Amino acid sequence: MSLPLLDTRDRPLHDLRISVTDRCNFRCTYCMPKEIFGAGFVFLPSAALLSFEEITRLARLFIGLGVEKIRLTGGEPLVRRDVEKLVAMLARLDGLRDLTMTTNGSLLARKARALKAAGLQRITVSLDSLDNEVFQAMNDVGFPVERVLEGIEAAREAGLWPIKINMVVKRGVNDQSVVDMARHFHGTGYVLRFIEYMDVGNTNGWRMDDVVSAAEIVRMIDAELPLEPLEASYRGEVAQRYRYRDGGGEIGVIASVTQPFCGDCTRARLSSEGLLYTCLFAGLGHDLRALLRGGKSDEEIRAFIEGIWRRRADRYSELRTQATAPRPKVEMSHIGG
Ligand SMILES: C[S@@+](CC[C@H](N)C(=O)[O-])C[C@H]1O[C@@H](n2cnc3c(N)ncnc32)[C@H](O)[C@@H]1O
Ligand code: SF4
Repeated sequence: MSLPLLDTRDRPLHDLRISVTDRCNFRCTYCMPKEIFGAGFVFLPSAALLSFEEITRLARLFIGLGVEKIRLTGGEPLVRRDVEKLVAMLARLDGLRDLTMTTNGSLLARKARALKAAGLQRITVSLDSLDNEVFQAMNDVGFPVERVLEGIEAAREAGLWPIKINMVVKRGVNDQSVVDMARHFHGTGYVLRFIEYMDVGNTNGWRMDDVVSAAEIVRMIDAELPLEPLEASYRGEVAQRYRYRDGGGEIGVIASVTQPFCGDCTRARLSSEGLLYTCLFAGLGHDLRALLRGGKSDEEIRAFIEGIWRRRADRYSELRTQATAPRPKVEMSHIGG
């Protein structure tokens, strides 16, 4: 066995998030605000996107460097044509233990069975409120909550299980929906996870005042449905887990703003045009597409990735509070969270 690949802070490379498109059929106000991502916005041309073969080749190299878990994301991964074919190609890779996807759920009712048949194991669906008015204002394209719930149900029926539901909480926008969501999913086996609204990218006009802290979210739920903390199940787990004292299952809170977890971050991120980012808050990606299309060998590409990981020192979230000046960062819709 070769030694595990570690970065400058002894963090192994364990997870890879692959963005398969920069496009999305939603315009969530905290992610792709319409003022920026409107009709005039220029998305990547399809020739710029990594092909399924290119993605699979990179995934195989990453697995050789220690990656065991791959998450497909976007933009909205289900708007990439035939994405289930990519799932099938990845599912065949030796050494991959976990293959999953984060989706807004809008196309899931149509796609769930094909994804499962292709080898997707489980899925995470983003849902910010059960209140249709609130949800439609947040996705900003008037998409009804009912259809996301249908997608979630279709995923369950197809056997994409366990299913996580991600809710980003923004003060004054959907904080009133926190307890409703908890009640709705309590006792169902779905794992609801609350995410602090983050200052990703440069376009969402983030302010600390808009963040509802994980501690506050836990207090709100605990007052109605008593909770107790659970141990983390593995190193690098980003969610702090709690279980309902009445046996109604568990929830997670992701405190990326108030309690950053850089010290345990084992993730690399690949954008849809093949840029490798070593942090969600990175300003700069490393161009793997140029290597793929420049005829480099597997060995050369692997050595390049290895060098980047060995030099990795990112800990943006821990430094955020000390930051003096704003700096350019990659957009969430570009690398998929
Ligand atoms: C960028 S999306 C991509 C996948 C898919 N379109 C979806 O919404 O699930 C991945 C996750 O990032 C979350 N997200 C986007 N912008 C965020 C922000 N500013 N703060 C916290 N989470 C955010 C979304 O809610 C979603 O759960
Ligand atoms: S969070 Fe997901 S669904 Fe919403 S705009 Fe971003 S990529 Fe699209």
